Amino acid sequence: MEQSYRFTLITGACGGLGSAFCEELASRGEPLFLTGRSEAVLRARAEDLRARYPALEVRFRAADLADEESRLALLGELSTQGIGLKRLVYVAGIDTQMALGRYDEARVVAQCRVNLEGAVSLLRGALSLSALDGNTELLAVGSMSGVSPMPYFALYSATKKALEQVCAGLHEELRGRAKVTCVLPGSIPTRDDIKENIRSHGFIGRLSAKSPRAVAVASLKAVRRNRRRKIVGGWNHLIYLCSVLCPTSLRMRFIARMWKRTEKDFYGGPPAAQ
Ligand SMILES: NC(=O)c1ccc[n+]([C@@H]2O[C@H](COP(=O)([O-])OP(=O)(O)OC[C@H]3O[C@@H](n4cnc5c(N)ncnc54)[C@H](OP(=O)(O)O)[C@@H]3O)[C@@H](O)[C@H]2O)c1
Repeated sequence: MEQSYRFTLITGACGGLGSAFCEELASRGEPLFLTGRSEAVLRARAEDLRARYPALEVRFRAADLADEESRLALLGELSTQGIGLKRLVYVAGIDTQMALGRYDEARVVAQCRVNLEGAVSLLRGALSLSALDGNTELLAVGSMSGVSPMPYFALYSATKKALEQVCAGLHEELRGRAKVTCVLPGSIPTRDDIKENIRSHGFIGRLSAKSPRAVAVASLKAVRRNRRRKIVGGWNHLIYLCSVLCPTSLRMRFIARMWKRTEKDFYGGPPAAQ
């Protein structure tokens, strides 16, 4: 039987931005394969989508993307079920915002693994599950925080920069076979701590923010057009330009002043619910 490459695999499918990708793709009738850490939450998300889009095909499997065996089990399951991928959307991420000296080892490891190792692993794994006929779409969620080194957000910023570079390399390696995009959103008001963070940055915080749905729509459009990198929003383009033109020492002092005002430490949170 000829393999049909129809599914979109979405990681972080039950988080704020992942949910927006699910909604957008479900509204387009695209078959979905969801993953996140909690089986119960994934089941509830799948049932909710099926109830609202009765013709939609939705499957799911829980996986811890920080764990090598769990990632391989997920990829193995996709292969066993004969799931062909049209698209990978790697949304999962951990954003710990605090001085590096206040990290413990577990926070270092988790952030590196989920933001980078897990993404590279699934990008690589997706290759053998895709047609690679020029229409395959590989989309990873980076961040504007990766544009410049960021005091008080240093490790997150580094993992997102590295992810952008991996995607840029892959974009060239897969030319003609797959479209590869790394999207760099500014702020997205998803969790309460992020909304508070945006508020604490005042007018500038609000200018950088885009809704989860707007980010999802812009990202899907960018990967369809095979854009190597997508910055979302006019203000964020301006920030990007400033960070290229502004001397590093000045930039670091400005960022440190802004970012040491608040902390985000969502790593400690459990998967969305058990
Ligand atoms: N919000 C922003 O301002 C912003 C800005 C730029 C970029 N981003 C990026 O956008 C993405 C989504 O962020 P968000 O705001 O939607 O945050 P979120 O609601 O906290 O979503 C993060 C997702 O990552 C998943 N995840 C965390 N650790 C995992 C692990 N070990 N294994 C599998 N999945 C794991 C979580 O899965 P569970 O459902 O299992 O908890 C959750 O669905 C992240 O990559 C983030 O870096 C966000």
